[in-house]
Formats: sequence, structure tokens, C-alpha cells
Amino acid sequence: MAKPIALVTGASRGIGRAIAGRLAPDYEIVAAARSAPDLDRLASDIRAGGGTCTPVPVDLTDSTAIARALNGLEADVLVNNAGVGVMKPLLEMTPEEWHRQVDLNFNALYHVTRAVLPGMVSRRRGHVVIVGSISGRSTYAGGTAYTGTKHAVMAFAECLLLEVRDQGVKVSVVNPGSVATEFGGSDPASKGGWALRAEDVAETVAFALSTPPNVLVHRVEVRALSKVKPAPAGGP
Ligand SMILES: NC(=O)c1ccc[n+]([C@@H]2O[C@H](COP(=O)([O-])OP(=O)(O)OC[C@H]3O[C@@H](n4cnc5c(N)ncnc54)[C@H](OP(=O)(O)O)[C@@H]3O)[C@@H](O)[C@H]2O)c1
Repeated sequence: MAKPIALVTGASRGIGRAIAGRLAPDYEIVAAARSAPDLDRLASDIRAGGGTCTPVPVDLTDSTAIARALNGLEADVLVNNAGVGVMKPLLEMTPEEWHRQVDLNFNALYHVTRAVLPGMVSRRRGHVVIVGSISGRSTYAGGTAYTGTKHAVMAFAECLLLEVRDQGVKVSVVNPGSVATEFGGSDPASKGGWALRAEDVAETVAFALSTPPNVLVHRVEVRALSKVKPAPAGGP
């Protein structure tokens, strides 16, 4: 029997790549991001493990391209993960940086979800997972655009849940703390060894997807326990 389809955005690296890999034993993966070579590498890794992965190179800030690439895809699971963060004071932020964050972190949520949600509703099953952030409930200098979009994600997720829950569609939001990825142009090693791994977030997404049909994990916050770097195993 064919496996259900999971569409993962931002799957070319970081958290999205880890989610695609974690879900691959149970789902046919459709992997979306801009970088075709990185998506091809992901697909060949998944195939080497016995899974299936279709790369979909697409700029998710382009609503026409999203519709062309994804409209009508019969996804059982959608993981809206792609996101970008530019942390700087408002007066230093360029219009391009502002719009890139709003277009990817928030507007793409509408366009990508709109492409696959009608099928979920008509089949009366599906699960939309959104990767938010602890920045969806906190504020800090330099975060006007990023935290603004992640606060919006929280409202989007809960409103959408209220719209589709009675039609058999689940909506979850997974909010990580710091994760050692290239997010915002950072060097994963700069997180000092204490941050979560992308795989930890992927495991949380898999958990949210694993509940029985009548059970919903709607909101999860996943964080590193401590900023103190763990001692090496076997050390003093
Ligand atoms: N890392 C953290 O500390 C952290 C903490 C909390 C929440 N998050 C959230 O986790 C999510 C993933 O972040 P990450 O840490 O994995 O970041 P990342 O390593 O920078 O990965 C971002 C992903 O988004 C894709 N992307 C960026 N612009 C795109 C566009 N215009 N169209 C399509 N895809 C695009 C990138 O692929 P291409 O460049 O190939 O397009 C990449 O696959 C984001 O929503 C972020 O807000 C991250």
C-alpha cells in the first residue's frame, strides 16, 4: 500500500531536512525549498534508506510559484517549516529584509496551506504542523519583524484549528528554542554545544503526528534543558 504523503517546506537544510529524514520511513516525502542541489542530496539520502522523496524547488515568497508547484498535491501531512530571521533594530532593517521575513514566515503559511488544505478537508483527514518559535511568545530588541511573524504564526495556528477540527484536520505548532542550524546566517557551532539539534525538533514533530485520531497535540515548546554544555560521556 502506498504511504501517505508528507510535504515539508524548508527541507533543504536544518530543521526541515531533519524532519524530512525522520518522517521518511512512514511517509512519501515531498521536499520544498529553493536550493535544488540540496533537495536532490536529501532525496538521494532518503532513497538510499529505502524511502521516497520528490524534490520541489520553489521560492515560497512567490505565491504564483507556490500555486504552480503545490496546488492539488494530496498531502496527508504538511509541515510548514521554512523560515528566516534577520535580527536588527527597526531603523537598520531594510524594506527587503522586512518583507522577506513577512513573506516567508507568514504569507507563505497562507499560500502553502491553501494549496493542500482543500484536499485534506474533502478527504476528512490531514495534519498541518507549523514550526513556530519561542519568539512567538517573547520579545527582544532586534526582533520586530521576526517575533512579529512568529506571534502571528501562533494566532494563525489556533484560528485554523478552530476552522478545520470538525472536518478531521489537525493543526499543531511546534515552538523550538535555540537550534544549532545555519538559521539567520549563524554558524551552528556558535551555539556553544548546548542548543537543540535539528533532530530533536524533528522528533517533536513526529510525536505530534503520532497521536491517535481523536487526540491533538496543538502546541509544543521544545527547548534545551540548560545552556551549560553537557560534560562528555565518560568524563569526570
Ligand atoms: N534555528 C533556530 O534556532 C530556530 C529556533 C526556533 C525556530 N526556528 C524556526 O525553524 C524553522 C527552520 O529554521 P532552521 O533553523 O532550519 O533554518 P535554516 O537552516 O536557515 O533553514 C531554513 C530553510 O528555509 C528555506 N528557505 C529560506 N528561504 C526560502 C524561500 N524563499 N523559499 C523556500 N524556502 C526557503 C531554506 O532553503 P533554501 O535556502 O534552499 O530555500 C532552508 O531549507 C524556521 O521557521 C525558524 O523560524 C529556528
